[in-house]
Amino acid sequence: MIPIAKPLIGKEEKEAVLEVLDSGILAQGPRVAAFEDAFAEMCGVKYAIATSSGTTALHLALLAHGIGEGDEVITTPFTFIASANSILYVGAKPVFVDIVPRTFNLDAGKIEAAITTRTKAILPVHLYGLCCDMDGIMAIAQAHNLLVIEDACQSHAAEYKGKRAGSFGTGAFSLYPTKNITSAEGGMITTNEDVINEKCRVIRNHGMRRRYYHDELGYNLRMTDLHAAVGLAQLKKLDEFNQKRAGNAACFNAALEGVVTPFVPEGCGHVYHQYTIRVPDERRDALRDCLKENEIGSEIYYPLPIHQQGFYMEMFGEMHLPETELAAQEVLSIPVHPSLTGEDREKIVSTINTFMRKG
Ligand SMILES: Cc1ncc(COP(=O)(O)O)c(C=O)c1O
Repeated sequence: MIPIAKPLIGKEEKEAVLEVLDSGILAQGPRVAAFEDAFAEMCGVKYAIATSSGTTALHLALLAHGIGEGDEVITTPFTFIASANSILYVGAKPVFVDIVPRTFNLDAGKIEAAITTRTKAILPVHLYGLCCDMDGIMAIAQAHNLLVIEDACQSHAAEYKGKRAGSFGTGAFSLYPTKNITSAEGGMITTNEDVINEKCRVIRNHGMRRRYYHDELGYNLRMTDLHAAVGLAQLKKLDEFNQKRAGNAACFNAALEGVVTPFVPEGCGHVYHQYTIRVPDERRDALRDCLKENEIGSEIYYPLPIHQQGFYMEMFGEMHLPETELAAQEVLSIPVHPSLTGEDREKIVSTINTFMRKG
């Protein structure tokens, strides 16, 4: 079976974990700080704050910005549930805006119509490893005095006009095993703001500035040094991993027939967390079955948009977002991870092309 994702753990990660175990400092030690510094540098920002997951990074970023009850946050319904759930966790309301069909990302042209007096922030999601239209989003945020919290969970080192994902507003990254780099479970917040950096650190650690004096409600959202050791070793390999992903994607772009391959707007550096094709004419599910029969993994990210998930419908009622709903019917992600071999790529291409040619 060619898996849809495969974490690449080498001897560097293993040795780093053993070193932490031998050191006896398993949490709140030097590895977390070193990982944060290296991650901030990779993103081109002043600060990075390590968390226990991408979900807690999003939650903490929203808390640190003071978003809560009565606030509205504009986001995309075509994403992993955590993007919107984090908004619910702080008591705010996610307001869904439709996507651009070619990029699968939030349509900046539709954001202004969704702004109300309660809108506090825009939460764009750089889906599949491609940055959103950040010129459009930042201009709207500035004009309406809105915060920008980027869900960069799928876009480590993705670029937009020379800047990296997570460096426009406050960024949140995931380090889950399927991501471009992993720490097993883990997350990272990125920011240039001194106040947000400080707030994140305090809330991450039970609202504590002075030992056992708690200034505000906080949580335990910390990363352990074991996870940081893995993450730091992986971060050193991020460029190499991303280059391999881009090489695999280039082969698919050149060879696939009958499907819509990923679109990369001018000025964007796609990091192909996923290589997602659109399969027209209601043939997506049959193609997926055919891939499975040929022992090729694939996945649908995401089959049911968030505004159509049961508990969201109960909370906010029905709404219709046509581009998102069509994308959910047509998208299919195929393996693009760095451990694919040339033979794997050929098998994937020939299986898809043979199926699509049958018409
Ligand atoms: C777009 C997006 N947001 C948020 C998350 C949540 O990250 P984690 O699984 O690390 O909590 C993920 C990870 O799957 C994601 O893909």
